[in-house]
Amino acid sequence: MLEDKDRIFTNLYGFGDWRLKGAIARGAWDNTKKLIDKGHEWIINEMKASGLRGRGGAGFPTGLKWSFMPKPDPARPSYLVVNADESEPGTCKDREIMRNDPQLLIEGCFIACFAMQAHVCYIYIRGEYILEGQRLEAAIAEAYAAKLIGTNNLHGWPFNIYVHHGAGAYICGEETALLESLEGKKGMPRLKPPFPANMGLYGCPTTVNNVESIAAAPDILRRGAAWFASFGAKNNSGTKLFCVSGHVNKPCNVEEAMSIPFRELIERHCGGVRGGFDNLLAVIPGGSSVPCVPAHEMIDAALDFDTLQKLKSGLGTAAVIVMDKSTDIVRAIARISYFYKHESCGQCTPCREGTGWLWRVVSRMAEGRAQKREIDMLLEVTTQIEGHTICALGDAAAWPVQGLIRHFRPEIERRIDQYAANPHSEPVKDFGVAAE
Ligand SMILES: Cc1cc2nc3c(=O)[nH]c(=O)nc-3n(C[C@H](O)[C@H](O)[C@H](O)COP(=O)(O)O)c2cc1C
Ligand code: SF4
Repeated sequence: MLEDKDRIFTNLYGFGDWRLKGAIARGAWDNTKKLIDKGHEWIINEMKASGLRGRGGAGFPTGLKWSFMPKPDPARPSYLVVNADESEPGTCKDREIMRNDPQLLIEGCFIACFAMQAHVCYIYIRGEYILEGQRLEAAIAEAYAAKLIGTNNLHGWPFNIYVHHGAGAYICGEETALLESLEGKKGMPRLKPPFPANMGLYGCPTTVNNVESIAAAPDILRRGAAWFASFGAKNNSGTKLFCVSGHVNKPCNVEEAMSIPFRELIERHCGGVRGGFDNLLAVIPGGSSVPCVPAHEMIDAALDFDTLQKLKSGLGTAAVIVMDKSTDIVRAIARISYFYKHESCGQCTPCREGTGWLWRVVSRMAEGRAQKREIDMLLEVTTQIEGHTICALGDAAAWPVQGLIRHFRPEIERRIDQYAANPHSEPVKDFGVAAE
């Protein structure tokens, strides 16, 4: 088990004081000037050496991303934008950081801005995070008052930070939609390239990073890249916040070493699967957009980017959704399909039309009101959405359905047979969503 001394998020549960005094007592802002004095390049190289991969879902190496920022140009200021939209179903880690240890994020923003030679940071926070927003604003005010940040701060690198509240759209978590929204426009993803590092906020160089990626940076730099890289498997370094929900005895958020086996995570921190591991049906290991993994493949698998990719799923945001054998897996995926249909911004035809199509067909299949040949047709439609859209929401809608067909085709067929044998039986109607 990860020892307490190796935890970055030591006030994750809010048992300690979230204010500046408490954060400083836990080690935040400890000689930040010493890190700054080592220079921009040292910080970026150390972040690269730590192996930290972005915690927002895609797992892109953070140090490398920072190194893509162009040299400073007075005509085009550089920006850091922190993605605090946290809308991926099952994910609830960034809110704990902002609510219980906001100074970790603020110090991380300062150091990241210094590394990329930016002087301004925007934190784009999910609209529903009212308390988290208030705490963050209060913590920022404390950091300004203590001259830790601001135009004339103690560290000698002018730095200002602004919090912007979103309005609750999932798509505004996609980095370019987030930038559009921040600019006051409709949150619709932009075509890439150009990438934000060259043409981001207000057409200027911008790096977008997840809250956890940024909040982990100060501790990584203080303790050293080698310390961080000593956790997890090769290419999957560090400690990681896991959000475990669903059919476990004690759902929780917990910081653990990357690559911890699923069984160990659930036994140590969640009191086991409801009814025991034999009662496990499947797991969605990285938030609703990644394909489910059946119990027999999941139980002893390491929770990291590479292992889960080999299992045709993904670590995503490390939101581990556990489903026991009481789960109606076809209905569960139909519900997820409804979410993506609802959140599609509508710009791309395959996503706009396809997400609704997926939802309607999977919903029929949950009732058994389908033909067996439609299963392959459904799979074919997912492949026409995946990779054919402006942003990855199209993929996110396609993958859960692909996972369902890959692992639970016999269950879909069983329902079709059952319905064909008794078409007048009462169909399952309650999908938890409004009828269209
Ligand atoms: C539809 C969609 C929603 C997303 N939502 C979030 C989100 O809520 N929070 C987040 O950090 N990243 C989200 N992302 C990923 C971001 O686009 C981006 O990759 C991430 O913020 C980069 O940060 P990182 O490199 O630190 O992981 C989303 C991506 C897509 C396609
Ligand atoms: S994939 Fe969907 S959400 Fe993304 S830009 Fe296209 S229509 Fe919008």
